[in-house]
Amino acid sequence: MIAPTDIIRLEAQAVVMLDQTRLPGQRVERVCATVSELVVAIQELAVRGAPALGVAGAMGVALAASHAPAQPEQFRRTVLAEAAALAAARPTAINLSVGVEAALAAAAEQWSTPVAARRAIAQAAQAFHVAEVRRCEAIGRHGAALFAADARICTICNAGALATGGYGTALGVIRRLHEEGLSPMVWVPETRPLLQGARLTAWELAQDGIAHQVIPDGAIASRFGLGLIDGVVVGADRIAANGDTANKVGTYGLAIMARHHGVPFYVAAPRTTIDPGTPAGAAIPIEERPRAEVAGVAGRLTVADESPIVNPAFDVTPAALIDAIITEDGVLRAPFDFSV
Ligand code: MRU
Repeated sequence: MIAPTDIIRLEAQAVVMLDQTRLPGQRVERVCATVSELVVAIQELAVRGAPALGVAGAMGVALAASHAPAQPEQFRRTVLAEAAALAAARPTAINLSVGVEAALAAAAEQWSTPVAARRAIAQAAQAFHVAEVRRCEAIGRHGAALFAADARICTICNAGALATGGYGTALGVIRRLHEEGLSPMVWVPETRPLLQGARLTAWELAQDGIAHQVIPDGAIASRFGLGLIDGVVVGADRIAANGDTANKVGTYGLAIMARHHGVPFYVAAPRTTIDPGTPAGAAIPIEERPRAEVAGVAGRLTVADESPIVNPAFDVTPAALIDAIITEDGVLRAPFDFSV
């Protein structure tokens, strides 16, 4: 498995990440020396996946603090402005603002002493990364108990080490089964249009020697119909107070297929993905991505300019279709109530 610090790390004057847009063909690091560069990297999905976005947000605040002027009021204003830009870089994953807030909280009593604040923010960002990986490991332990030794498991997108800064949520559950010596087989839908399943999840599974098959998104329903799927486990970008869950577009369809075929459907996510302030799925902001992501494949135009395109990056699965939510604290069964 790829090491957390190879996925993303904080250096003295930069946030350095494995550029996920280049995988699986090339393993290239991307260095963000300014918050503006980090915001672009987030928007281009060089770093992506809700928990990893939280880590990037926390490290981004540390980067802002490392460059901010030494005069206390200017320091505070600069860091807060850059933090706001980071939190707004992508709208759906609540983890991004959770990570930003965790780093800012470390400076709370220290705005008048920028040197101390800078150090406290950097330490908080690193600690947030470590804690997020620990939460994923706990999710893996709890979730693995839900599956049989040779379960055939469907996931979507990439909810692995790359998406979390280490280990993974949905893929953490699968990774844990493998570590326990069991033999999961993973169905990996390509996850159009950006192919996080084909490019990233399959890459992670292959690295760990976990059996898997990549499948076009449109073909997955037929695998349910043939009785070839025993369970579904997906990640989440934001879980509303009532359990409605935003995740990669296509997740809602998988949940409907699972329910139709009597297959259990699980969401695996750390508590940093739960947003008590959003009462239900209808209030979750859904990111609309650029037309170009759908209009072309490998640099070739596939949709004529005259045709309008809709490109929502996420959809919302109603809580009623979710059998359980696996967090670091254990397996939570419906009905869900995260309002407190
Ligand atoms: O657009 P992306 O690649 O950031 O979308 C990621 C997902 O939808 C993941 O499933 C989700 O963030 C959970 S990652 C553990």
